[in-house]
Amino acid sequence: MNKDIIILAIETSCDETAAAVVKNGKEILSNVVSSQINTHSKFGGVIPEVASRLHTENISLVIDEALTTANIKNEDLDYIAVTYGPGLIGCLHVGLQAAKALSLLCGIPLIGINHLAGHIYANNFVTELEFPLLALVVSGGHSELVYMEKDYQFEIIGSTMDDAIGEAFDKTARLLNLGYPGGPIIDKLAKSGEAKYKFPQVKIKGKYDFSFSGLKSACFQLIKRLERNKEEYLVEDITSSFQESVLGLLLDKSLLALSDYPVKQFILAGGVAANSRLRELIMDKIPTSFPKVKIVLPPLWCCTDNAAMIAACAYQAVKHGVSNDSSLKADSSLTL
Ligand code: KG4
Ligand code: ZN
Repeated sequence: MNKDIIILAIETSCDETAAAVVKNGKEILSNVVSSQINTHSKFGGVIPEVASRLHTENISLVIDEALTTANIKNEDLDYIAVTYGPGLIGCLHVGLQAAKALSLLCGIPLIGINHLAGHIYANNFVTELEFPLLALVVSGGHSELVYMEKDYQFEIIGSTMDDAIGEAFDKTARLLNLGYPGGPIIDKLAKSGEAKYKFPQVKIKGKYDFSFSGLKSACFQLIKRLERNKEEYLVEDITSSFQESVLGLLLDKSLLALSDYPVKQFILAGGVAANSRLRELIMDKIPTSFPKVKIVLPPLWCCTDNAAMIAACAYQAVKHGVSNDSSLKADSSLTL
């Protein structure tokens, strides 16, 4: 009989202190996320120094809770998985040091995981991934189109030239004094707005690349112009117009990539994958042009940062021979 593989995963790359225990890559025994959003929202964004300090204060409590909820003891664990990049360097260090200490204590291997790979493998909780596939990874720090010919093999075919899409949502929300994080707020407001303002199309060199900072600035200019001219406007219409523009770009580039890369699945990943309009657009437009491509949308709970996705990814990493030790270093700009 095959032995169960039990992984404790730790994620601290940005503003969530998270730990999870997952059995055989799929069965979540616990998934604890301690969010720092309430603290950072007072500053209108993540303050790296504050984030690292809060991770340091919370990490052992979060790990303890993950083990207790899962009813798992140190000796039951087979691997310790940890996000070692990309992310905020001070934040990554906290998770990495905790993971190294546990790996030494338990005498079990350390598995270093790329945060973006974690977002992709979150979809393993929905369905079996089928290759080749195309993943649209959209988060607060990244906007990438990733082609995976095989399991645990990543090729970035498109990425952002400037801001990440989540960053564009957050900055635009700040501009409109809507609060932090901006993504969910804009998503909600846009539902009752009309996309009546059109923004100029941005010129982007790379076929599958993105650019969002121009749209964010265009939004800023629009508000200034409306206010200067004392024209009445609804913030809902601005958010809706902004959202349609940025999501339209994501969709256009995804359709282009799908035309060139024959894949079995199209999967969505990352915090912005929670956007209701993006999910609607994907389900609406992709099947019309690519009826044979299976679309996989992650459930809302595993779109934003969590450690269960890191464990799911680590399970695949182990199968592909990944194994690290105490020499593993945090890498804030780690690529796939
Ligand atoms: O993946 P994530 O939790 O952290 C990073 O890896 O960056 O993503 C956080 C980002 C934030 O920028 C947040 O505004 C955005 O995801 N986000 C959304 C929505 N929910 C979260 N953006 C648009 N619509 C949403 N519903
Ligand atoms: Zn993330």
